[in-house]
Amino acid sequence: MSSVTRGPRKLYVKSYGCQMNVYDSQRMADVLAREGYVETSTPDDADVLVLNTCHIREKAAEKVYSELGRLRVLKQDAARDGRRLTVAVAGCVAQAEGEEIIRRAPVVDLVVGPQSYHRLPDLVARAAETGRVVDTEFPAEDKFDHLAAPSAAATRSRGAAAFVTVQEGCDKFCSFCVVPYTRGAEFSRPVAKILAEVEGLVAAGVKEIRLIGQNVNAWHGDGPDGRAWSLARLLHRLAEVPGVARLRYTTSHPRDMDDALIAAHRDLPALMPQLHLPVQSGSDRVLDAMNRRHDRAEYLRVIERLKTARPDIALSSDFIVGFPGETEAEFRDTLALVDEVGFASAYSFKYSPRPGTPAADSDDQVSEAEKADRLARLQARIDHHAAAFNAATVGRTAAVLFENPGRHDGQMTGKSPWMQAVQVMAPPSVKGEIHTVRITGTGTNSLYGALVSPLRHDVHGGRDAPDAAMRVASGGH
Ligand code: 5AD
Ligand code: SF4
Repeated sequence: MSSVTRGPRKLYVKSYGCQMNVYDSQRMADVLAREGYVETSTPDDADVLVLNTCHIREKAAEKVYSELGRLRVLKQDAARDGRRLTVAVAGCVAQAEGEEIIRRAPVVDLVVGPQSYHRLPDLVARAAETGRVVDTEFPAEDKFDHLAAPSAAATRSRGAAAFVTVQEGCDKFCSFCVVPYTRGAEFSRPVAKILAEVEGLVAAGVKEIRLIGQNVNAWHGDGPDGRAWSLARLLHRLAEVPGVARLRYTTSHPRDMDDALIAAHRDLPALMPQLHLPVQSGSDRVLDAMNRRHDRAEYLRVIERLKTARPDIALSSDFIVGFPGETEAEFRDTLALVDEVGFASAYSFKYSPRPGTPAADSDDQVSEAEKADRLARLQARIDHHAAAFNAATVGRTAAVLFENPGRHDGQMTGKSPWMQAVQVMAPPSVKGEIHTVRITGTGTNSLYGALVSPLRHDVHGGRDAPDAAMRVASGGH
């Protein structure tokens, strides 16, 4: 086989969508590394190419088909060179559309759903032989038990901050959302597995652990004491792991922000003052139609309690505009909510009807023009508050965890406790370290800062936060 003469077989994974996919892509690479695959940074010389897809909105799903169109040419070029390129579609489009993908795009050899990644070596081998392999089962076994622990080398290349999946799936069934169908029912990993993974990452130099799950604060994994633990308890335990300097968790549901979790934001210095808490809409009628299981006042109460626990907390959210039946007045309730909370950042989306979800069948769809108009108006409000939040940090000091080279020569970039990207003139040696930085200005997508000399290590940071200024920037609480 030509791959023998070419050295190790090469793998290229392209990730779309959420952080769970980024994590899953890394684990797919880990599983295939055990079979001798090495990752390549370009699709051109790959033997196996995986598209790890997102189905959350129509646009995201359609992107995959245009990419598959381009891959047809790549596959033909490889064949001309006497190479077989195996094309796999993984992730939520794979789960939702199954073999329909191969029917629509015959370039695809393998369709693999998120619950089957531990079977990849076998699936890829079969697909390379025969093509047209589909595995979108929801197996009873726990895929995490079979996925390789990240190798030391793989871990090292992952830098200062790393994701750890603690929870997968969702039982909430918001009426617009495909996640309960593509990722299945909620599943929580046990404490021992999470601890082992975190300890491995920290031993390889990771400083910041980001716990991820579609509904992360609903996590209730088995503890070593045989009882189900809460996320708050898990965070307390992880904060005790030597070398864990920072903790974050995402994405949370307002209904599952319990007292202990809110108190953890007050009590745990390692828990960063930042939370992504999607609300989707500011209108009670729309929230009800979305089946969000909370109203506007309940959401605001959670925010209030969070700000009491950690006054400088940076809040972010997700919004959907143009949900079926949303009136102009209801949309304005969303704008008013944004002004009331003063989010540090937020994502906003036009409602996209997804096959199989209840809201998609509504005959009350909002026009495309109306959605586009509302999106632009909402984004302007969000940008206004984000700019105010960032401006409030100028002149203050913050602990920055350096992750990568910056945009310009001599610069390094890192994250503030509030998850802002900060560009700083600093030697490459600061990578993986936390240093105190004075924030000197704001740019479009990041802040600028200067190292406070001499280089001083700051373990957690964020307590010298601009509390008062933050409060003004985030809505006057
Ligand atoms: N249309 C538009 N946005 C959606 N989201 C989820 N489903 C849809 C949909 N059908 C958004 C929500 C969610 C984020 C991840 O994607 O805001 O929080
Ligand atoms: Fe989707 Fe709602 Fe579950 Fe979030 S909570 S993943 S929006 S169903």
